[in-house]
Amino acid sequence: MSVVRLITQNFRNIEQAKIDLHPQLNFLVGDNGSGKSSFLEAIFFLGHGKSFRTSKIENLVSHDQSSFVVSVKDDLDAQIGISKNFTSNQTEIKINGERHTKLSELAKNIAVQIITPESFKLFFGGPKERRRFVDLGLFHVEQSFSREWKDFNRILKQRNAYLRSGINIEGIKYWDEVFCVHSNNVSELRIKYITSFKEEFLHWAKLLLPNIFENIQIQYSQGWKQNTKLEDILQNNRSREVLLGYTTSGTHKFDLRFIMNKQPLENQLSRGQQKLFLLALTFAQAKLIEKVKRVKPILLIDDVGAELDSNSRTVLNNAINQLNCQVIITAIDKVAVEPLIPNDHDYKMFHVKHGKIFEMSE
Ligand SMILES: Nc1ncnc2c1ncn2[C@@H]1O[C@H](COP(=O)(O)OP(=O)(O)O)[C@@H](O)[C@H]1O
Ligand SMILES: [Mg+2]
Repeated sequence: MSVVRLITQNFRNIEQAKIDLHPQLNFLVGDNGSGKSSFLEAIFFLGHGKSFRTSKIENLVSHDQSSFVVSVKDDLDAQIGISKNFTSNQTEIKINGERHTKLSELAKNIAVQIITPESFKLFFGGPKERRRFVDLGLFHVEQSFSREWKDFNRILKQRNAYLRSGINIEGIKYWDEVFCVHSNNVSELRIKYITSFKEEFLHWAKLLLPNIFENIQIQYSQGWKQNTKLEDILQNNRSREVLLGYTTSGTHKFDLRFIMNKQPLENQLSRGQQKLFLLALTFAQAKLIEKVKRVKPILLIDDVGAELDSNSRTVLNNAINQLNCQVIITAIDKVAVEPLIPNDHDYKMFHVKHGKIFEMSE
């Protein structure tokens, strides 16, 4: 889907907004503190049921208000809405007129990805963010992933509880066996996905980082030692795991590594290259999601101007043109997005000022 109309109420500093977006390319420009990131946050919230910059949902409601609303209508007239009331502590989710209670329902209908100036630090801050990235793609591309991942996590919890409860050898053998089956199932899906992801990434890296893409390698670690049976590892680690009370090997420890010239890539890129690298990753993922034609990805790029010189912005412009996705880009002013503006004038530009959003004409 692409978002045709976005309606918000009392979301951060945006009191009211009813915005008709362009199906492909949108720019939001405005001063610091005008509400650009808040606008993206509202869309992100619909896709994830949470924010990208706070874990406290109560931060999202406008000061002095008790509830917020965010809803979108897509190009097929489907509607997704959520309202959160902090007085009654009620969350209401409506997807095409049907009520839902679980925030996880939101993610099935809309694939939102975001890149902010903090993304690179987050992405290389620990394996969790990298797993989250891969799993977002898997969630939309591999229909069985969601089920498998849920099952695996249930077993992981049960095995951990068993480790803590004072085990007997027959009991733990049972949990090892079940755990390995589920761990392998998830691992297989992830490895399959990474294989197609690597190929797709190459295309975007070539476009966005033409001078270094050939030196970048993507590797994964499955969560336990390569070419070793997980069963054997569990057995070898038995006394340690009992002591710790949790499972130290398995697909929950999956991670990605990026290597450039035999060294970790993260310490070798300039700020601008970091952003282009993340864009290449995200575009590759968006393309894979788009190819399965279940949901249409929406890409949010917050504060695009910050690190990119005008040459990089031209390169980015080419890449965006090749992506069949809706993109929403924010920047301080029009000058910062100038090299991203297509010649055919097929886009929309909005000005954000004190929480109000106006469509700008040429
Ligand atoms: N819950 C809230 N209610 C009202 N205003 C808020 C709330 N949270 C943040 N703000 C204010 O909203 C403004 C817009 O922030 P932001 O969207 O980050 O701006 P931008 O991305 O355009 O720089 C900031 O001035 C911030 O202080
Ligand atoms: Mg901002």
